[in-house]
Amino acid sequence: MHLAVLAPVFALAAVVSAGPVSSFGAAGDSPYVGPENGTLVIIGGNASDDAIYQRIIDLAGGPDAPIVTVPTADGAAEYDDDAAQARTFRRLGARNVTVLHTYDPAEADTEAFAAPLRAARGVFFGGGRQWRLVDAYAGTLTERLFHDVLARGGVVSGSSAGASIQGSFLARGDTRTNQVLVGDHQVGFGFLRNAAIDQHVLARNRHFDMFDILKVRPELLGVSVDENTALIVSRNDAEVFRGTYVIFYDGGFWSREGSDLKNLPPSSSIFYFLRHGDKYDLGKRQIVV
Ligand SMILES: *[C@@H]1O[C@H](CO)[C@@H](O)[C@H](O)[C@H]1NC(C)=O
Ligand SMILES: *[C@@H]1O[C@H](CO)[C@@H](O)[C@H](O)[C@H]1NC(C)=O
Ligand SMILES: *[C@@H]1O[C@H](CO)[C@@H](O)[C@H](O)[C@H]1NC(C)=O
Repeated sequence: MHLAVLAPVFALAAVVSAGPVSSFGAAGDSPYVGPENGTLVIIGGNASDDAIYQRIIDLAGGPDAPIVTVPTADGAAEYDDDAAQARTFRRLGARNVTVLHTYDPAEADTEAFAAPLRAARGVFFGGGRQWRLVDAYAGTLTERLFHDVLARGGVVSGSSAGASIQGSFLARGDTRTNQVLVGDHQVGFGFLRNAAIDQHVLARNRHFDMFDILKVRPELLGVSVDENTALIVSRNDAEVFRGTYVIFYDGGFWSREGSDLKNLPPSSSIFYFLRHGDKYDLGKRQIVV
């Protein structure tokens, strides 16, 4: 049974490796699925809840903490100083917000470009197409400094494409359409290891889409975050914050009213929903009851 599902993995591996790939997210020696230091805030798109942005400011260290926002996924020709929620962070009191953008990986690899990240305590990736973040930053100094923000105890956050980029597997990373789950870009920045992250999940009825990934990469944890909802992660601790639901695909099941009372499909086809305040152990891959 396992051989049958593994075979397509090797076939895909041969096709995929074109294009830039992160070299910093691979840290196989970490005991944690999330970052050892610092915090991730993974938002499922269309985030209008100020409490989520406020939480990012707080995790960064308060109003004076330097925050860098990255609008690159959007694909616009140019961006102003308000891009990627920079304006929202300022409205909520953040006093040191910088928009950082290039589409050119050679530029992203320069100290002059990446300098704002040296002091940053927070990063926020805006929405759009997640492969644009890979093409611009994967393997560059800029990507390394994103990881360093976490290593220093800061916060890395993002919404929609800015959520998916945080996984080691890049869900919906295809350049032609966002309807291909296993596309021509498959490696994210890997702040969350051994995981694929999808977004807009309930608002767009995407809850079966994750299986396109898990069928070929059954070792991954699938995490699908609904709109205006955050998953907050440090080390192996994940907690749903605000909004509606985050769906976990770990081959297991849990229900508030009794997990063993349900008639479930096979474990390769199940998922379950956690809501605000629910906690999940990313190491054990189960809810913390
Ligand atoms: C975002 O969510 C709000 C509800 O919170 C909804 O009214 C709006 O249509 C959504 N926007 C998009 C672009 O889906
Ligand atoms: C923003 O933070 C950087 C790095 O700490 C600092 O050099 C700069 O003076 C700060 N800017 C403002 C306006 O506080
Ligand atoms: C986490 O922070 C500690 C203390 O600053 C540091 O020694 C360690 O190297 C950091 N770990 C990582 C993975 O960055």
